[in-house]
Amino acid sequence: MNIGIEKINFFTSDMYVDMSDLANARKEDPNKYLIGIGQSKMAVIPATQDIVTMGCNAAYPIIDDLDRQKIDMVVVGTESGIDNSKSASAYIADLLDLNENIRTFEVKQACYGATAALQIARGHIALNPESRVLVIGADIARYGINTPGEVTQGGGAIAMVISKDAKIANFKDNSTYLSKNIMDFWRPLGHSEALVDGKYSSGVYLEFFNDVYQRYLDTYNLSLSDFKALLFHLPYTKMGLKALREALKDKDADLVDKFNERFQKSTTYNRQVGNLYTGSLYLSLLSLLESDADIQGGDRLGLFSYGSGAQGEFYSLQLAKNYKQHLNMKTRELLNNRRKVTVSEYEKIYKESLNYQNNTELDISRDKAKFVLAGIKDNKRKYLTK
Ligand code: CAA
Repeated sequence: MNIGIEKINFFTSDMYVDMSDLANARKEDPNKYLIGIGQSKMAVIPATQDIVTMGCNAAYPIIDDLDRQKIDMVVVGTESGIDNSKSASAYIADLLDLNENIRTFEVKQACYGATAALQIARGHIALNPESRVLVIGADIARYGINTPGEVTQGGGAIAMVISKDAKIANFKDNSTYLSKNIMDFWRPLGHSEALVDGKYSSGVYLEFFNDVYQRYLDTYNLSLSDFKALLFHLPYTKMGLKALREALKDKDADLVDKFNERFQKSTTYNRQVGNLYTGSLYLSLLSLLESDADIQGGDRLGLFSYGSGAQGEFYSLQLAKNYKQHLNMKTRELLNNRRKVTVSEYEKIYKESLNYQNNTELDISRDKAKFVLAGIKDNKRKYLTK
């Protein structure tokens, strides 16, 4: 069996705000955002998109009739749940017209959720080789207007089909992990925006990376040169760069150059979207796969997943022989076709998506996506497929 990612796709909204514009509005030097934080654009998510619609919009293009027969589990990793009880997976399975004899549930551990979902899927396929699992990481990162975290907002969804026929990449070896009960980033019940101790969170991210990465190398008797690239959860691209620098300490110049070059490719999309919490590491994977012509089937990639609160995990994926033929290569087009909004438009859209309440109808005419949220009636969310 070759358990791993058979298909992968990304969705985000069709609007973004330019980080130079945001820096000017916040009276900061644009280079602080562009270089110091490492972000160029930030996805702006309208009230008509949430984790359900974004998850469906990411999954729909890669789900075919065979998937509809074989998928018997849908797991959504998210920090941006839309209900304290009902999972986003139940809505998504219905909207995608999946079989009803399936398991649907949601997992939560800040930005780590999609990795937890993937590992659950791996175990499920090991027990049920003929089945397929739909894994979704979907989030909207919200810190608040004019906060230090604002520059690290964003949103979107990654969808992956996991099966024994890993056409993109298979799991290689097991993982190393670390869990600690800490308060670096959290969102208490009733809060729509995250609470964060920003500098502390960046420090523990590095501490967790060093721990799980070193233990991984020791466990599997590997060194940096056994990997073709290292991929990171990217709350902002500079955060991943800081972790990469830890791994590159005292390494020879050739290796340092290669890893830095690959890191740039793996951050191309994230730099234009911002943080999408659970999906961030997997958008970085997609970014590398769609931007780097030099990596090949058989190459080992190292992945560092981090979710505040906190959970860290390091594991490897091995690229499938013909993985390039199985990428749908639509991400660049999706990002290039977005509309730039002004900072005041972004602020208006942000407030609308925070404030809408029961018994509201939303204007879906401006949203071109296939799946949209049309409103809330009697505390029930009304989704539409266009
Ligand atoms: N030109 C170039 N660089 C500049 C600059 C300029 N003109 N001005 C400032 N900079 C640099 C600074 O030197 C700094 O770089 P280093 O980190 O390498 O020192 C960088 O820009 C950022 O500057 P500050 O530290 O002053 O920024 P800040 O205080 O405004 O806050 C932040 C930055 C803490 C990341 C804040 O945006 C934040 O709280 N973000 C949310 C939390 C977060 O993303 N944490 C990451 C780890 S937790 C996690 O990964 C889970 C998750 O997804 C949330």
